[in-house]
Amino acid sequence: MSRCRVCFKPIKKFMSFGKMPIANSFIKKDKFKKQYFYDMEAGFCKSCSTFQLIKVPKAKLMFNEKYAYLASTSNFMKKHWSNLSKKIINNLKNNKNPFVVEIGSNDGIFLENIAKKKINHLGIDASKNVCEISKSKGINSLNAFFNEKTARKIVAKYGKADVIVCTNTMHHIEDINGVVKGMSDLLKDKGTIITEDPSLKEMLNKNAYDQIYAEHMYIWSLSSINFLFGKYKMEVYDIENNKLHGGCSRYFIAKNNVKKITKKVQVHKILEKKLKINKLSTYINFKNKVNSLKKELKSKLIQLKKRNKIIVGYGAPAKSTTILNFCNIDYKLIDKIFDNSNTKINKYTPGKSLIKIENSDKFKKTKSDYCVLFAWNHQKEILAKEKNYLEKNGKWIIPVPSLKVIK
Ligand code: TMP
Ligand code: ZN
Repeated sequence: MSRCRVCFKPIKKFMSFGKMPIANSFIKKDKFKKQYFYDMEAGFCKSCSTFQLIKVPKAKLMFNEKYAYLASTSNFMKKHWSNLSKKIINNLKNNKNPFVVEIGSNDGIFLENIAKKKINHLGIDASKNVCEISKSKGINSLNAFFNEKTARKIVAKYGKADVIVCTNTMHHIEDINGVVKGMSDLLKDKGTIITEDPSLKEMLNKNAYDQIYAEHMYIWSLSSINFLFGKYKMEVYDIENNKLHGGCSRYFIAKNNVKKITKKVQVHKILEKKLKINKLSTYINFKNKVNSLKKELKSKLIQLKKRNKIIVGYGAPAKSTTILNFCNIDYKLIDKIFDNSNTKINKYTPGKSLIKIENSDKFKKTKSDYCVLFAWNHQKEILAKEKNYLEKNGKWIIPVPSLKVIK
């Protein structure tokens, strides 16, 4: 029997995605036969409302010296994190000698804004390569997994934090209780924790099954975040929703009864209740819709291939690993995928898909009839950048939330 990682009660498995590789493990040809696969099965815990994967690979297999995701590949994201830093800096203006900690600081896309203002800060990331990039930007960085022990060391060296930022990271961590306990030890009594992750509500609304992969072993909701932080006497006092990654929620969390709970939190609670976010039937419906999307996408690509159409892809996000492997789409259907991450270019998509990734600056010169936009969440930015494609009669295929062809 499997147990929930948040509340440790037995958990109900409702969907199997089959064998999956590690989503961000874009590979060279010589590694095709040496890949790591795991059974990707999704479960839902009725006791604490947490959506999670039943089993995941060991953290070191996912987060190591070769982590492929670089946050700074999108200008839109840079702007997004710079805006958050402005808000934080403004809120800290009356604090004496404030200290900002980021857990999962990646290539420093957020903390560079704090560092530039000469505010005390520390970025922690488990992946060495991204930590080195942060350091090269002048960001005080620590290459480590964050847990209670790391928290104690930070408190001893720097003192407690006024703000702890942990965005797109809460879903990576198997021992999530250890991390939240560590956060509560590291946080000043009147401090704020800011987390931001893909929202379960939006994943359900958008059938965004490609949010699910081992590095996203949980898809959080207000209900589950409140349960988790509640265990350590903390609560969500404010929430902001945005359209990033197909829909994220940003939670503002403080120690119990320190901050007034906003109306937005109450409204979001009601929306989650209306969506029946705590009912297993909701997840069975999701599974049925996702299985239809899988059939539709695969048969569309087969049909185009039969008509000798050249199909390529744009964006090789971790999400594309789930789509490609779950829908059984490989190099025979999609010639290549264009991406602007140095960590991915000239490598191949993992698992059985094995599609070559090329520099997106070659997209304009490469002839193709259809392009699957795997980075569908960056549709605006990418379609604007590649507006010639439609003019040249190229067509975009959008795989999520519903199969759509843009001509
Ligand atoms: P993300 O959805 O996880 O942010 O990943 C988006 C992927 O798409 C990432 O591998 C970078 C790539 N990308 C491009 O190649 N060109 C672009 O203009 C953008 C915005 C992203
Ligand atoms: Zn639970």
